[in-house]
Amino acid sequence: MTSPAAAPKMVHARAPGKINVFLKVGALLEDGYHDVATAYQAVSLGEDVRAYPADDFSVSFGGSIDTSNLATDGSNLAIKAATLLAHKAGYRAGVHLEIEKHVPIAGGMGGGSADAAATLLACDALWGTDLSREELLELATQLGSDVPFAFTGGTAIGTGRGDQLSPALAKGQFQWVLAFADFGMSTPEVYRELDRHRDRHSQDIFPAPTQPQVDANVLQALRAGDPRMLADALYNDLQAPALHLEPQLASVIELGEENGALAGLISGSGPTVAFLAADLDGALELQIALSAAQLTVVRATGPVHGARLIS
Ligand code: C5P
Repeated sequence: MTSPAAAPKMVHARAPGKINVFLKVGALLEDGYHDVATAYQAVSLGEDVRAYPADDFSVSFGGSIDTSNLATDGSNLAIKAATLLAHKAGYRAGVHLEIEKHVPIAGGMGGGSADAAATLLACDALWGTDLSREELLELATQLGSDVPFAFTGGTAIGTGRGDQLSPALAKGQFQWVLAFADFGMSTPEVYRELDRHRDRHSQDIFPAPTQPQVDANVLQALRAGDPRMLADALYNDLQAPALHLEPQLASVIELGEENGALAGLISGSGPTVAFLAADLDGALELQIALSAAQLTVVRATGPVHGARLIS
């Protein structure tokens, strides 16, 4: 642990949002979770966390999105991350977190998970707790299914709850255009809608896979850095239930595909729609077309690295 005299005045960390370029969901398990097989890509839209020494735990928000409805108490995932680390390291004081948010809230892009991952890294440096990467990853796993990926970033396959990661080979940069919704969606609610659909149609559809796997053509497309191949392989089992709950998102996907997107996909549990473009020009044109249709759109590239300290 750092001595008070040597302690930094502030530590700045950044962690990325993510797109699940592939997400297959298995059956509902007894613990309330589903086994999944997902391919994550970290994108250049991320969160900045600045950690300041303090006696207790607090958080404030700024950034490019409306953060007025975010919880600032102990239910906030960044506060949970800081208190979990303090507990693990036996650290007795607290931290004030200033979070600059760019990833949509409850948008399916892992914004809260990125806050938590960056907080772990920032507090570890601020307090001089000096946990190993493995120990921080273990804490990340306790905080949520997507937090370990926000920590490691890049391109990875996630199994189990999505928290068991193995790196995947990826070449080049993919160009994305992200259409934000002006509402959020609850991840548990979208999973529940999928379960209800599967129950209702159990006679007509294949049962949920017991051991979901990422399709080989997704891995091949990522390895080749080929956006057309990846567009054909994009898949998300949560897309149908998300569209069932918010049917207007279907017309957003259609609009993007009519305006040159190779493909559009609900990101995670939604409602953000991620459009894959062929190249930078395609992404710029799509951004203009969707903005003209009054949608809130942001361009991003991926993959990018995971949580890191900014000097
Ligand atoms: O892990 P996290 O807290 O992000 O999960 C939020 C909710 O999403 C869980 O309580 C569960 O309802 C659902 N979930 C799931 N299966 C997963 C991941 C999340 O059912 N693999």
